Amino acid sequence: MPIMRVEDVSKNFGGLDALKRVSFTLYEGQVKALIGPNGAGKTTLFNLISGVDRPTAGHIYFRDHDLGTLRRHEAAGLGIGRTFQHSKVFDDMTVLDNVKVGRYQRGRAGIFSSFFSLRRHRNEERQVRETAFEALKRVGLEAQAGELAGNLPMGDRHLLEIARSLATEPTVLLLDEPAAGLNNDETDRLADLVRQIRDNGVTILLVEHDMGFVMDISDEVVVLDYGKKIAEGPPLMIQNDEEVIRAYLGDDLA
Ligand SMILES: Nc1ncnc2c1ncn2[C@@H]1O[C@H](COP(=O)(O)OP(=O)(O)O)[C@@H](O)[C@H]1O
Ligand SMILES: [Mg+2]
Repeated sequence: MPIMRVEDVSKNFGGLDALKRVSFTLYEGQVKALIGPNGAGKTTLFNLISGVDRPTAGHIYFRDHDLGTLRRHEAAGLGIGRTFQHSKVFDDMTVLDNVKVGRYQRGRAGIFSSFFSLRRHRNEERQVRETAFEALKRVGLEAQAGELAGNLPMGDRHLLEIARSLATEPTVLLLDEPAAGLNNDETDRLADLVRQIRDNGVTILLVEHDMGFVMDISDEVVVLDYGKKIAEGPPLMIQNDEEVIRAYLGDDLA
């Protein structure tokens, strides 16, 4: 069943077409990858889906909601979670507190007002804490709950960001370059985690340069090049697509 439809989406930044009439459908329960050379428009599309920015033209439907008309916290409230290409981990907060911050983003007026009201609502505080701890367990970071996030190795930072998104109980999870900077063991662990999240009923859209990882875990791949969709299909088809191979020639893929 379709869960999200990207329809003819364009995004223009002062004369530059970051996205040109991109369309694809995300189906419930799938892992879909968005790939393409640097500057292809991948992060821009994530920003549009998560309500950070709005399309210049076209629509993104999540179930019956037009995401182009929503704000970021509204997108989160509908069940769209995301991690960022550049880590948003707060180094001087504990691992658990980093996850709790994410939990407050869902369906609330804002982080600060909820911090104050929660002081008066101990039960709710306990519940947030439990949800956050559960999310840490799901990514295998519960033993580090009390450590400062700044002390975590790169692989664990990525897992922490995923835990923070999971604590918002997303229906769709957007992962922007989750394998970047990870070693082979960390990447394998991440692939297992992504499968496990998918098996728990979360639909996943991810941007990634690590082709081994992409081909290993994706059901379908969309390829962007200079803001245009140049291919879409199962991993094996994409690997053998002439236009895709041409777009990647000379591109330094990590
Ligand atoms: N806020 C912005 N203002 C102006 N140009 C932008 C902005 N965000 C992205 N771009 C441009 O849009 C294009 C696509 O960028 P991006 O979506 O980050 O690519 P990718 O994530 O595929 O590497 C690039 O040319 C980039 O410089
Ligand atoms: Mg990017």
